Amino acid sequence: MSLSRVTVGTVLLSLLAGTVAQGITSSQSLANFTQAGPPPNNTKVLILGGGMAGIIAARTLHEQGIDDFVVVDAKTEFGGRMIQKPFGLTGRQVVVENGPSWIKGTQDGDGNANPVWELAQKHNLSMVESDLYGSISFFDYTGPSNYSDAFDTSIDAFNNATVVAGRGVVENKVDLDLRSAYSYLGMAPTTPQEQACQYYQVDFPFLQSPSQTSWFASAWRHNFTYVPEAGGYSDVNMMSVDPRGFAFIVQAEAVDFMKTNQILYNETVSSIHYDENGVTVLTQGGYNLTAEHALVTFSVGVLQNTDVVFQPAFPDWKREAVNSIEMAGYNKIFLQFNDTFWFDTEMGLYADLQRGKYPVWQSLDHPDFFPGSGIISVTVTGDYSPYVEQLNTTQLQDEVMEVLRTMYPDAPDPADIHIAAWGSNTLYRGAYSNWGASFVPGHLQNLRANLDGHLWFAGEATSLKSFGLLQGAYLEGQRVGLEIANCINGGQCTVPPDTNIVNAQPYPSDLQVQ
Ligand SMILES: Cc1cc2nc3c(=O)[nH]c(=O)nc-3n(C[C@H](O)[C@H](O)[C@H](O)COP(=O)(O)OP(=O)(O)OC[C@H]3O[C@@H](n4cnc5c(N)ncnc54)[C@H](O)[C@@H]3O)c2cc1C
Ligand SMILES: *[C@@H]1O[C@H](CO)[C@@H](O)[C@H](O)[C@H]1NC(C)=O
Ligand SMILES: *[C@@H]1O[C@H](CO)[C@@H](O)[C@H](O)[C@H]1NC(C)=O
Ligand SMILES: *[C@@H]1O[C@H](CO)[C@@H](O)[C@H](O)[C@H]1NC(C)=O
Ligand SMILES: *[C@@H]1O[C@H](CO)[C@@H](O)[C@H](O)[C@H]1NC(C)=O
Ligand SMILES: *[C@@H]1O[C@H](CO)[C@@H](O)[C@H](O)[C@H]1NC(C)=O
Ligand SMILES: *[C@@H]1O[C@H](CO)[C@@H](O)[C@H](O)[C@H]1NC(C)=O
Ligand SMILES: *[C@@H]1O[C@H](CO)[C@@H](O)[C@H](O)[C@H]1NC(C)=O
Ligand SMILES: *[C@@H]1O[C@H](CO)[C@@H](O)[C@H](O)[C@H]1NC(C)=O
Ligand SMILES: *[C@@H]1O[C@H](CO)[C@@H](O)[C@H](O)[C@H]1NC(C)=O
Ligand SMILES: *[C@@H]1O[C@H](CO)[C@@H](O)[C@H](O)[C@H]1NC(C)=O
Repeated sequence: MSLSRVTVGTVLLSLLAGTVAQGITSSQSLANFTQAGPPPNNTKVLILGGGMAGIIAARTLHEQGIDDFVVVDAKTEFGGRMIQKPFGLTGRQVVVENGPSWIKGTQDGDGNANPVWELAQKHNLSMVESDLYGSISFFDYTGPSNYSDAFDTSIDAFNNATVVAGRGVVENKVDLDLRSAYSYLGMAPTTPQEQACQYYQVDFPFLQSPSQTSWFASAWRHNFTYVPEAGGYSDVNMMSVDPRGFAFIVQAEAVDFMKTNQILYNETVSSIHYDENGVTVLTQGGYNLTAEHALVTFSVGVLQNTDVVFQPAFPDWKREAVNSIEMAGYNKIFLQFNDTFWFDTEMGLYADLQRGKYPVWQSLDHPDFFPGSGIISVTVTGDYSPYVEQLNTTQLQDEVMEVLRTMYPDAPDPADIHIAAWGSNTLYRGAYSNWGASFVPGHLQNLRANLDGHLWFAGEATSLKSFGLLQGAYLEGQRVGLEIANCINGGQCTVPPDTNIVNAQPYPSDLQVQ
């Protein structure tokens, strides 16, 4: 794949039209884009959460002629899980991304475009193509070890699994988890090196182990992201290297259509009361806001906990759906060194005897990313995440350096280290959602379904084709924005649940105890 810097790190941007006064550049107006005092009360819509889903829902309402809304967020800027962090020693700092950094799938010719890719281009995000499958060095618990053939086989195996899954979906077969599927298809990895390769295809994008991941859903998300002939965007991954942060694309978009009196920042929602007349939202700071409608875009991890109290409590079908999808872990650990000593590919894959132990390394010092930064990062996912999040910095550094010294025995100590902890963050409670084999499309319908025609839901987890990803959040924000606008404009107000999720075939009669 070609490596191309799409835009230079242009910080000063051109004039914006619309609600923003002439002569103010986007970056300046962003600085001024703060809350204008107490927000209006008794609006038509309260949008709870100012991440990708919330801001795109707000924009969709605006496009439908509805501006009587307020966006509430616990943070003091928009972007949600898109969170940048200046990392490194003074004088050598680089803006790294604690959360997402890749636009997964772009556009193939004039095919289907990833809307996040379009948004990034609109706002001149500085980004580079990331060659995740072609620029990679291999290591195992003995040191450097070239198992690139096993890696190629693992790509093949995953693709084969997606093809057979396609037939399974068409034939309405019962889903399996991916461990079962690999085994059934005669492709189960056996060695630690093969495990690491499979990890890269499965756990790295889906965050959980094959046994925790749906065969069918992982196949269709892969297709709808990367495979144009199967409805996807393209096989290209673009990485943000923008010093304004990846979140800039959401923040700049908000500036384009929102007014500062539609913002309520720095307020954590504590309870949401709903009935067939409307909603009341209480915040920790003491706001009592009423509205006709509320849109909840909090992560499914937040909904699984008691951070936000819903009154009345969710009906059974909603509770089942919310708890049937997993909010999975994903941590990036950043290390800065005075000098680089590692691979000159973009990625490094490390196969430990323990699957999932500090396996995926990325050189941010690579010439296409942040040359001279001295930064390398390592990623852990799934069940390893809560483990690394409870380590203190010394313990974490010792563990990570033990692995790095397996790869490079003479590696010095890092000058700086940083871990992005998501599982322990009460605003997220994990990184993003993953479908297990027991989560079925009916559950997804029930995640989306609204309550009493006034409490609505959207976010990455409610996306059928792109769960977990930014485009999933974007498209769900758009979907729900259109539905709410339609309701306000006199149309249908119910997004109905499937209250009868049952097996396609009855259980054997000798199991049916009378
Ligand atoms: C480490 C990591 C890496 C990722 N990598 C990628 C990637 O490379 N590519 C990709 O496409 N996707 C990636 N993702 C996923 C992507 O970040 C999400 O799909 C997307 O940001 C979700 O947007 P959302 O609007 O659904 O939710 P959110 O962004 O979570 O928005 C919800 C908002 O609600 C707010 N909130 C929560 N609780 C409350 C409360 N009680 N009161 C008030 N406000 C509250 C939060 O502050 C947040 O702003 C990654 C995520 C993580 C964590
Ligand atoms: C993005 O950059 C292009 C070319 O430099 C410029 O024409 C355009 O106005 C910029 N757009 C924004 C929103 O800054
Ligand atoms: C916007 O903020 C800048 C400083 O960040 C300030 O100089 C300018 O006056 C502000 N403009 C408006 C319209 O408030
Ligand atoms: C690893 O092996 C592959 C094929 O077996 C070969 O093409 C590649 O050059 C090797 N890489 C290194 C770094 O030796
Ligand atoms: C994938 O399928 C092709 C065609 O059936 C087969 O030749 C190949 O061996 C399979 N690859 C793996 C890893 O199973
Ligand atoms: C994924 O795409 C492949 C290739 O186009 C196709 O054969 C398969 O049926 C698709 N799988 C699913 C689950 O859609
Ligand atoms: C957020 O609110 C708290 C009080 O709840 C206040 O102390 C803090 O300064 C506020 N932060 C910002 C950035 O406004
Ligand atoms: C909003 O209006 C409701 C009544 O309509 C009132 O109970 C509540 O206190 C108001 N909240 C604020 C912040 O003014
Ligand atoms: C919030 O406002 C509503 C509507 O006026 C009112 O019924 C409710 O008691 C208020 N709740 C609190 C905690 O102030
Ligand atoms: C980290 O934890 C270890 C083991 O519990 C402890 O010995 C050490 O003092 C801790 N270090 C810091 C900096 O807290
Ligand atoms: C890195 O360089 C800084 C500044 O020269 C120095 O203080 C520090 O000791 C060095 N760190 C290591 C691990 O060599």
